[in-house]
Amino acid sequence: MTTKTQEEKASTRDMAGLLFGDLWDYAPAPESTEHVRYAQRYGHFINGQFVDGKDYFPTINPATEEVIAEFAAADEAEVDRAVQAARNAYDGVWSKMKPAERAKYIYRIGRLIQEKARELSILETMDGGKPIRESRDVDVPLVAAHFLYYAGWADKLQYAFPGARVSSLGVAGQVIPWNFPLLMAAWKVAPALAAGNTVVLKPAETTPLTAMKLAEICQEADLPPGVVNIVNGAGRTGAAIVNHPQIDKVAFTGSTDVGKIIQRAIAGTHKRLTLELGGKGANIIFEDAAIDQAVEGIIQGIFFNQGHVCCAGSRLLVQESVVDEVVQKLRIRMESLRVGDPLDKNTDIGAINSRAQLEKIHELVQSGVDEGAKLYQSSCSLPERGFFYRPSVFTEVAQSHRIAQEEIFGPVLSVLTFRTPEEAMKKANNTPYGLSAGIWSDKGSKLFSVAGAIRAGVVWGNTYNQFDPASPFGGYKESGFGREGGLHGLKPYLEVR
Ligand code: NAI
Ligand code: MG
Repeated sequence: MTTKTQEEKASTRDMAGLLFGDLWDYAPAPESTEHVRYAQRYGHFINGQFVDGKDYFPTINPATEEVIAEFAAADEAEVDRAVQAARNAYDGVWSKMKPAERAKYIYRIGRLIQEKARELSILETMDGGKPIRESRDVDVPLVAAHFLYYAGWADKLQYAFPGARVSSLGVAGQVIPWNFPLLMAAWKVAPALAAGNTVVLKPAETTPLTAMKLAEICQEADLPPGVVNIVNGAGRTGAAIVNHPQIDKVAFTGSTDVGKIIQRAIAGTHKRLTLELGGKGANIIFEDAAIDQAVEGIIQGIFFNQGHVCCAGSRLLVQESVVDEVVQKLRIRMESLRVGDPLDKNTDIGAINSRAQLEKIHELVQSGVDEGAKLYQSSCSLPERGFFYRPSVFTEVAQSHRIAQEEIFGPVLSVLTFRTPEEAMKKANNTPYGLSAGIWSDKGSKLFSVAGAIRAGVVWGNTYNQFDPASPFGGYKESGFGREGGLHGLKPYLEVR
């Protein structure tokens, strides 16, 4: 840690109007990694077995830049083996099994995740950089909840869509990102299995570790071989899954650019598609909101998971009459955020997932400065090694600035103002994206009328970044289409007639 002098700390304190800041430090409280088990090298998980790969690449811990393990990058032939295994398991076992039997396996996976929650949280934090507090309290519990929720639907599909006949699709090819590695795997695998499909999943290249643990859990749950196959690799491997002729359904979460490539690649084929892409969520603060709670919601909206959240509240829209108060309270609260070792239980903001992502954040922040917005960054000290970024907020932002339009995917907030609810709605919708929004107001009627006018898949009222397996999630416009979670999330994995 670069340590600050008492004088520097005192000046921070004056600026923020804060009485303690980081004048006193917490004692380190790192989570122990001694009991976690992982291999030095992973190939792929195909037909119920761990198999060797050909070419290997490392995954690092972004907080230390140390190599954790090596992972294989699957080529077309290896992807083909995984798809054949999934096909055979679908035709021979899974599609023929009684739905109540399928449910038992999915429950078992959910229970095993609960049993191994601590190990999974630590590995997720090591590989991806998110604070242990979040992987332990948010990611992993939601992963288990997702499997348990969809297990419940597996033998009730005819009640899920009354009056319709439903059947599974076949083999699902699923490609996921690095911001919620195990949670995105659960969002993909659980509904696919519950609907009676088999899967070939590819984790992101910077965060493949917990997917291999999920493979171990599938083995331990005695899941029939080939029902879940996991291949490692980067974009080329993802493309090989998407383009494989025997894939019946493609599910992708990631960047809008890759989403567009996928949509073009499978146009005109029989493949079904759901895309969950980027976002530039508006978090709208009305003057009648409970300001202190709203400030907590702003912090939660943009700094959760270092801002690597597709539904992050990255555009703050504040009613002009309260903007000074909100920004001042926000800065004070930002000063108290602890940035550092993700394994430390007191850490609020962990490591940026990769060097490439850190560079992207630097580049976009520079564009904000160049275009004339005013940057304020927390004065916290950053670890000397690893990829870290200070909590940042831009004021005096114009709609046309890149920082108001593009997804930064980091701990950087852009503040804009509005005068009337109509202006707030217009500004909120002035984006190519449409994934999420938040509204803070004391007036229920205002909350509902603004929520109804916003073209976003998820709108939170007086809260932000809340998730539940029963609640559907997904986008409008360039944020993608299709829903995950709830009954809505089952439908893309079913033929509903
Ligand atoms: P990406 O979209 O390239 O990566 C997501 C997944 O897609 C990874 O598993 C990757 O291996 C795979 N992939 C890459 N190219 C592919 C292709 N041609 N066909 C099939 N699969 C492919 O995202 P990246 O490059 O890691 O991040 C770039 C930006 O995208 C971020 O800065 C962020 O703004 C945004 N992003 C948004 C996410 C979201 O949840 N909305 C998640 C990840 C990134
Ligand atoms: Mg990693």
